[in-house]
Amino acid sequence: MDASNTSKTATLTVGNKSYDFPVKNGTEGPDVVDISTLYNKAGIFTYDPGFMATASCESKITYIDGDAGILRYRGYPIEQVAQGDFLETCYLLLEGELPNKAQKADFVNRVTNHTMVHEQMARFFQGFRRDAHPMAVMVASVGALSAFYHDSTDINDPHQRMVASMRMIAKVPTLAAMAYKYTIGQPFIYPQNSLDYASNFMRMCFAVPCEEYKVNPVLSRALDKIFILHADHEQNASTNTVRSSGSSGANPFACIAAGIACLWGPAHGGANEAALKMLTEIGDVKNIPAFIKRAKDKEDLFRVMGFGHRVYKNYDPRAKIMQQLCHEVLKETGHENDPVLQVALEFERILLSDDYFISRKLYPNVDFYSGITLKALGFPTSMFTVLFAVARTVGWIAQWKEMIDDPNYKIARPRQLYTGDVERQYIPLDKRK
Ligand code: ACO
Repeated sequence: MDASNTSKTATLTVGNKSYDFPVKNGTEGPDVVDISTLYNKAGIFTYDPGFMATASCESKITYIDGDAGILRYRGYPIEQVAQGDFLETCYLLLEGELPNKAQKADFVNRVTNHTMVHEQMARFFQGFRRDAHPMAVMVASVGALSAFYHDSTDINDPHQRMVASMRMIAKVPTLAAMAYKYTIGQPFIYPQNSLDYASNFMRMCFAVPCEEYKVNPVLSRALDKIFILHADHEQNASTNTVRSSGSSGANPFACIAAGIACLWGPAHGGANEAALKMLTEIGDVKNIPAFIKRAKDKEDLFRVMGFGHRVYKNYDPRAKIMQQLCHEVLKETGHENDPVLQVALEFERILLSDDYFISRKLYPNVDFYSGITLKALGFPTSMFTVLFAVARTVGWIAQWKEMIDDPNYKIARPRQLYTGDVERQYIPLDKRK
């Protein structure tokens, strides 16, 4: 894939020698200097830990303008995509276009027919301790799908790639619900294919065999939207992990398991839990000033959780939708006067008018309101990152597919700045001091 244009040239001068490199323009966003020939030309590498100024790939899936607070899937603003449903979003991310009615029905049918997992998976779960974190269970069980579905692991076969994709979008919610049920000691609930994606997931999490379970459509619609908001976010840490793993030609189920492992970290998927914990700790609006003082104190490690973002230097567009969903869910569940919500609203209002936060362009991110919302939906904090993984699975798959479909893709193999010992001689053990 190389759909970029080349208009300018960048010149790098090292000592008394200069080297020219093409500057590529995408359809939007900053230009990139193509330095892929740098080592061959000049015998040096670039150094950019954490990819602060490095585009690791070319992609057509998701566009973010952090300064303007813009997020688009395949060109469609997130606010508009959120008007549809999650499976439509999945189709859009995977195929690049919104489906027509027939395409949508076919896609929903294909995903729905893959929701059950091999019965042997239930026995696989028995090996975990009951107090296992559901993310630990997710890493293992999604990776284990590679041992159950051999017939969709030839990454060179487009049909098998498609089947593996459908299987993951369909089965990850089933495994997530099983992970939850296992840790609370309740029986697994089989998927119910007459239900939509989010309703089915809620039923698998919250139903018990001895009682009727009726899905609340307001709550399942809210969960569906939360899935849409988290479906993709261009080259974040877990997506980069999936691409890196996949670049070696690894089994697709194992690649998604690697993405889940990366997402688990508190700097990535775990911030919503931290935000809820912070708001609960504040407890009352009268305590807010003390926490703001702490946030500004350089000696104090405390930061306002759910505020600030590496890319968004404006209001995270997902946070606006999440705030709206939070109100809807709390109203529906009778928690409108929840003190945590009151604290969140007042805290946000004060921070947005505070010079410290204004000057540093710190705005609420998607996690500021998501913890309160997920709690009101009935999920324990240990499931928050799992829900993120359920939603992000399609983004990971779309990015993995895009990479494999690219005839020019290469194994991800960064280089390094070596600062270890220079050559020295091996000393036999009996001669060492
Ligand atoms: N509370 C208080 N001060 C903050 C916060 C915050 N949440 N975030 C940044 N700052 C301050 C820093 O202290 C720094 O101040 P200084 O210039 O006086 O030293 C300045 O703002 C810039 O901060 P950096 O850490 O350099 O910004 P960076 O882009 O590296 O960090 C990050 C982004 C990690 C998200 C940060 O804003 C943060 O820790 N936020 C809280 C955690 C959080 O909500 N994470 C979720 C991210 S969204 C997601 O993963 C889905």
